[in-house]
Amino acid sequence: MCGIVAYIGPEKAGPILFDTLKRLEYRGYDSAGVAIRSDGEIQVLKSAGRIGDLEKVYVGMGMPGDTVGIGHTRWATHGKPSDKNAHPFISGDIAIVHNGIIENYLELRDLLTQAGFEFKSETDSEVLAHLIKMYYHGDLADAVTKAINRVEGSYAVAVVSASSPYLVCARKDSPLVLGIGKDANYVASDVAALLPYTRDIVRMKDGEIVLLYGSKEIEIRDLSGITQTFQTEKIDWNIDAAERGGYPHFMLKEIHEQPRALQETFAGRISEIDGDVQLDLGRTNEEIESLERVSIIACGTSYHAGLLGKYLIPRAAGLPVDVEVASEFQHIQLRPRTLVLGITQSGETADTMISLKKSKTCGVGRLAITNVVGSTVTGLVDGTIYTRCGPEIGVAATKTFTGQLAALFLLAIRLGRARNHLTPDQGRKMLVELTRLPGLVQSVLDKREEIRKVAEEYAGAGCYFFIGRDFLYPIALEGALKMKEIAYIPSEGYAGGELKHGPLALITEKTPVVAMATCGRKIQSNIKEVRARGADVIAFATEGDPDIDKVASTVIELPRTRPVYSAVLCTVGVQLLAYYTAAKLGLPIDKPRNLAKCVTVE
Ligand code: M6R
Repeated sequence: MCGIVAYIGPEKAGPILFDTLKRLEYRGYDSAGVAIRSDGEIQVLKSAGRIGDLEKVYVGMGMPGDTVGIGHTRWATHGKPSDKNAHPFISGDIAIVHNGIIENYLELRDLLTQAGFEFKSETDSEVLAHLIKMYYHGDLADAVTKAINRVEGSYAVAVVSASSPYLVCARKDSPLVLGIGKDANYVASDVAALLPYTRDIVRMKDGEIVLLYGSKEIEIRDLSGITQTFQTEKIDWNIDAAERGGYPHFMLKEIHEQPRALQETFAGRISEIDGDVQLDLGRTNEEIESLERVSIIACGTSYHAGLLGKYLIPRAAGLPVDVEVASEFQHIQLRPRTLVLGITQSGETADTMISLKKSKTCGVGRLAITNVVGSTVTGLVDGTIYTRCGPEIGVAATKTFTGQLAALFLLAIRLGRARNHLTPDQGRKMLVELTRLPGLVQSVLDKREEIRKVAEEYAGAGCYFFIGRDFLYPIALEGALKMKEIAYIPSEGYAGGELKHGPLALITEKTPVVAMATCGRKIQSNIKEVRARGADVIAFATEGDPDIDKVASTVIELPRTRPVYSAVLCTVGVQLLAYYTAAKLGLPIDKPRNLAKCVTVE
């Protein structure tokens, strides 16, 4: 996740910017940079790679600059990690750093190019620097306000000018906090960066523009220029807790980041008017029309995302799908009109990379869904759909999984529209409901206390079962994997209909069964089957379901949505269940034994 810092005060800005940037390193980044005012000019220093290396260059230059500056760590989403794509971006005497996604950047880029601005990067962020410059006539706050009123999307932005007595920052849908020092002001995307300097912070709200002066003075305005009141908050977290945003574990933080991550996955890709989706698939509509099959390869949690694709893509696009665990992939059987889709959050998993390489020999089209820009997988495929969830630090995949599901929803609709399997109206209806998903996920997160109590009640179980049917069968597998990975409880994930073909023998009154019950009524027969053997059933069900209370022992109600999208809501439910079980058992949730975040060996 990109990080922003800024400083204005009596001290030299450079050392403070580098120190605060290093405090954001834990979030992951691929490049870094600073812009510091120096003798009436803005000096920019930036590069791909480590902050420490950039700092050495700064020190080697004699630590130039005065007491105002901004800094950034970038985690690529538009344009690969490189020196030229690193922030800050400069336009004349203005420099900016930006987090978020400018959805209308292509349109703004055209406009600014016609106005004579020259672009040096592949990023969406650079348009902001030129847009602010275009509006700047001595009043930086006014220029930033005018610029962001032209922008669609999300932003946290800090802006410095050689000729302005103050720094400006602004936010919408991307976090930014102000630090109020003794006689200085600070900005950061994350409290963790500021703790050695101040514990008095102001959390910026969406639609606010802040002017920070080199004393304690700050002014907050809304987008129409009206001054706003604000409250200072005293932070008593230690640095470790601050890095986790106050959450006890990264996994819980990342579970809570899912509404935001889903918004990022959708940003700039959905056209409700056309009922279609814009994605880089590396092939024309004609080529998509001529496809005969999709073959998905992936491992672990990403494989479960792939399994959902097997239920989704045939219905949305009329294309048969097979899904294979990457280590078992038999490329020999591939036919030419197959699209091979590799799903991998890290983009580096050895089994998936090897299978994708083998598939090339069959002359098929290849596509990837990944979270990491520039990762190995992106070099092996014709097109990539980035999930844009930000880096995931907990070993157990959470927000990257729901990001993969979101990417699959977009892909299925794109394929369906390109193949005329979906009408514009059908596409539109699916997309309208899809855009509600971040808000619905938030409602599930708001039930965390209810889920925590259930998790704690069953934390002593020797074995768990997770069951689901149709779109929810992959989520049953994912729930079982989460419970195994972080709570170390043997857990089985089953298609509801399979229980009676063997696993029912394991069900006793000591086997809690988690039923994903938001999709169809047949699962209720399976719930009855296990209840008859004495098992307690925790059901994730749609609110207002008239029958579920009669069959399950505990019901956790989820908001109503299309059955396929309810897979995401059930996912959040099982993530929280596994998390609170592991927390009750006092286990090392972020780093489970024997597991690594990225498996780069076969
Ligand atoms: O980076 P990938 O998505 O390719 O990783 C695949 C699996 O190693 C990964 O999903 C693993 O199963 C996670 N620990 C699940 O939480």
